[in-house]
Amino acid sequence: MSIVKEVTRNIYSVGAIDWDRRLFDELIPLPDGTSYNAYIVQGSEKTALLDTVDPPMAEILMSNLAELKLGTIDYVVIQHAEQDHSGTLPQILERYPEAKVIATAKCKGMVMDFLAVAEEKIITVADGERLSLGDKTLEFFYTPWVHWPETMVTYVQEDQLLFSCDFFGSHIASSDLFVTDQAKVYEAAKRYFAEIMMPFRTIIRKNLTKLHPLDIAMIAPSHGAIYDKPDFILDAYEDWVSDKVKNEVVLPYASMHGSTKMMVNYLVRALMKQDVSVRLFNLPQTDIGELAMALVDAATIVIGSPTVFVGPHPSAVYAAYLANALKPKAKFASVVGSYGWGTKMVEQLAGMLPNLQVEILDPVVAKGLPKAADYQALDTLADTIAAKHRELKL
Ligand code: FEO
Repeated sequence: MSIVKEVTRNIYSVGAIDWDRRLFDELIPLPDGTSYNAYIVQGSEKTALLDTVDPPMAEILMSNLAELKLGTIDYVVIQHAEQDHSGTLPQILERYPEAKVIATAKCKGMVMDFLAVAEEKIITVADGERLSLGDKTLEFFYTPWVHWPETMVTYVQEDQLLFSCDFFGSHIASSDLFVTDQAKVYEAAKRYFAEIMMPFRTIIRKNLTKLHPLDIAMIAPSHGAIYDKPDFILDAYEDWVSDKVKNEVVLPYASMHGSTKMMVNYLVRALMKQDVSVRLFNLPQTDIGELAMALVDAATIVIGSPTVFVGPHPSAVYAAYLANALKPKAKFASVVGSYGWGTKMVEQLAGMLPNLQVEILDPVVAKGLPKAADYQALDTLADTIAAKHRELKL
């Protein structure tokens, strides 16, 4: 569902709201649905469409464009080749055959590969290149790895408006064109950053710096609401991509017969006594988006796992895989858990985190029920974590 809305003079939102979608990439939970935003920029001489929509929503985009009675579209700017934004391009080109596609050189190849668009339809633009639409000018800035290598953003100088595609986006289905609830959008945008942007944190930091010279009055992403007061999301991104960590332990765990859970609960209490915040996730019941979000700024990750076939519980393997793939900025990591007759759980979990720049703190592994010595070791682990955090002045 969606209707045409004017963003500012001669710039229109023409995308689609996906209220019902609950999973992205058959992996990422979407508790609040999402939207695939596309925009028309109508200059005095030329008209550009910025991005398209996910193919199942193609009819909505087509009918929104028809409602605007544009006559012609001169350019379709594809800022990112992933199909939730580029997927309706073939239908657009069929309906508006005179349109040329504007893309980075990398994006051009992807559009040809993924959507079978003819090479001669695509004009590549250089970083910083401008395209005049008459009384509006599009300026393209390469912003690689938000979150694919070909991504760029588009700035309309006359309106101080930045079209950012996935960059600054949030998965929220809403009838509101602009952000109305900053706290809710902050959470959704952080979740989105955690799920797909976090592995490219240092490159994104450079991309943010690149945007500093621009006067940005508005940011129009391709998921979620438009930021008409963009400072809060720009500040949030600066924080998320920084090296600053919080006095926080993320503790994803699974427990089969209760021993690991007893240890985890004991560790949580010990950390709380030391004023260390804990984010606890019972893995078999966890929304992985929430776990990813918690990884954005925690100083320490502790994985709790029982032993299954001598190795870690598959849920703990998933958590370790996720943490390794997302490359959070955590400084310390450890493992707690239990075993029945033999275990290589710690070695296997620790070996699954090669991407993390963490100091591994002494793990605590109990045989069966945790005993006095195990609780003492958990106290020591809590003391060590608290001391390490204090050293970082957290
Ligand atoms: Fe929203 Fe990377 O596509």
